[in-house]
Amino acid sequence: MNKIAIIGLGYVGLPLARLFATKYPVVGFDINQKRIAELRNGTDSTLEVADDILQAVLVNDNTVASSTSATALSKTSATAISRTSATGLYCTSDLSDIQEATIYIVTVPTPVDKNNRPDLTPLYKASETVGRVLKKGDIVVYESTVYPGATEEECIPVLEKISGLKFNEDFFAGYSPERINPGDKEHTVEKILKVTSGSTPEIGQQVDALYKSVITAGTHLAPTIKVAEAAKVIENSQRDINIAFVNELAKIFNILNIDTHAVLEAAGTKWNFLPFKPGLVGGHCIGVDPYYLAQKAQEHGYHPEIILAGRRLNDSMGEYVASQIIKTMIKKNIKVNGAQILMLGITFKENCPDVRNTKIVDVIKALESYSVQVTVYDPWANPDEVMHEYGIGCQNKLDGSAKYDAVVLGVAHKEFLNLTISDLQNELSIIYDVKGILNQKVDGRL
Ligand SMILES: NC(=O)c1ccc[n+]([C@@H]2O[C@H](COP(=O)([O-])OP(=O)(O)OC[C@H]3O[C@@H](n4cnc5c(N)ncnc54)[C@H](O)[C@@H]3O)[C@@H](O)[C@H]2O)c1
Repeated sequence: MNKIAIIGLGYVGLPLARLFATKYPVVGFDINQKRIAELRNGTDSTLEVADDILQAVLVNDNTVASSTSATALSKTSATAISRTSATGLYCTSDLSDIQEATIYIVTVPTPVDKNNRPDLTPLYKASETVGRVLKKGDIVVYESTVYPGATEEECIPVLEKISGLKFNEDFFAGYSPERINPGDKEHTVEKILKVTSGSTPEIGQQVDALYKSVITAGTHLAPTIKVAEAAKVIENSQRDINIAFVNELAKIFNILNIDTHAVLEAAGTKWNFLPFKPGLVGGHCIGVDPYYLAQKAQEHGYHPEIILAGRRLNDSMGEYVASQIIKTMIKKNIKVNGAQILMLGITFKENCPDVRNTKIVDVIKALESYSVQVTVYDPWANPDEVMHEYGIGCQNKLDGSAKYDAVVLGVAHKEFLNLTISDLQNELSIIYDVKGILNQKVDGRL
C-alpha cells in the first residue's frame, strides 16, 4: 500500500491530499502552522474543499493513537495512520510525521521575484525537507509548475545531496502538473485529466497507476518528465498570449469606437474562432508561468518575442483600464480630483478568495494617481490579507447609503450580478464594466 506525503497544503495540495486520502493513508505537511491548525479544525480558508468533505477524511490525534500526550502523538502519527487506518488525511508541520511515506508529492508555490525571474526557493526548501526523510525505493513526484528541466536539474540534486541516496538507483521521481482552476466547483481535481511522468519507464507506469486510481477523468502518461513540465507551462502561456491578443483588440476597437464584446460575439459564430475575452491577467499561474518558460529559453540563448510581448501587454492592462475610467468620467463632466469611486471586487478572479498577484490593485493604484478616492467592496476577499499584502482597505459589506461618481465592476463575483448599481450612484456618475458581464447599460467596458 502506498503511503503518501503531500508537501504544501495550498490551493493545489489540499484538494489532492483530500482526494488521495479517500483511498490511501495520507500525511499532509505544511510549514505554515496557522494553515495546519485550520485544516485540523476541519476548515479550508481557500474554500477549495468544503468543510464536510474535508472532515470526512480527516484523521486526528484521537483517531490515530490512544495516548494523550501531544508530542507523543505527533511523533507517532504517521506510524499510527498506517497501522490504524487504511485511508485518511493527517495534517502536520512535524517532519517526523512524513518519514514513513513511500510517495512524496510536492505542491509548493513557484513564484517569480520582483524582476519576474523564477524563484525556486520553496521548491529547494521542500526538496530539502523530503531529502531528510527519503528512503530507498521512495518516489518523489513534483506538481508545482516549472520550466522544462527544473525537476531533474534543480530538485533532484537537492534530494541526492541531503539524503545521500542515488537518483534512479535508490529513489525515483515523477512530475504530474496540476490543472485545477481555483473557485471552479465543476472542474475539480478528480475530474481533470492528469498528465503524469516518471524518471524511468517503469516509474512512469507506477506514477500513472497511482493517479489513475483516484482521477476519474483518467491520465496521460507523458514520455519524460521534461515533456510533462513543458506541457503544463505552455498551457498557461497559450492562455496568456490569447488573452493578450484580445486585450490588444480591445485597445484598437476602443480607438475605433467599436464595442469589442460585440465584435467577439460576431466573430465567435465561426466554428474555429477561439472564445477569449479581454481582461486583467492576475493570479500566480497565467501571469507567472510564461516567465518560467521565457527564462529557460533565454538561458539557452533564445529570446522569446511572442511570450514576453503577451506578458507586457497583459501587465499594462491595469493602467489602461484606469485611464479609460478617468476618460469616461471626464467625458461626462464628472470632476475627477476628489471623486469617489467604488471598485467591485479585488480578488484575482471571480468567486474565489485568492488575492495573490491581483491586477485590480494596478487599477486602484493608477486611479489613485489621479487623486480620486477608491472604496473597495469584495464579499470574498479577506480584508486583513488585502491590507497586509497591498496596504489597501477592503470591505466585505456594502454601505448602502454611500453614493459614488463611478462604479467599476472589476471582478465577476456572482454577488455583483444582482446588484442594483444605480442605487450606488450619484446623479452624475458612470459604470465601467471591466469584465463585460453586466446586463445593463454601462458607460464603458474593455
Ligand atoms: N492555484 C492554482 O490554481 C494552481 C493550478 C495549477 C498549478 N498550480 C501550481 O501549483 C503550485 C502550488 O500552488 P498553490 O496555488 O497551491 O500555492 P499555495 O500558496 O496556495 O500553497 C502552497 C503551500 O505550500 C506551503 N509551503 C511553502 N513552502 C513550503 C515548504 N518548504 N514545505 C512545506 N510547505 C510549504 C505554503 O505554506 C502553502 O500552504 C505552484 O507551482 C502553482 O503554480 C497552481
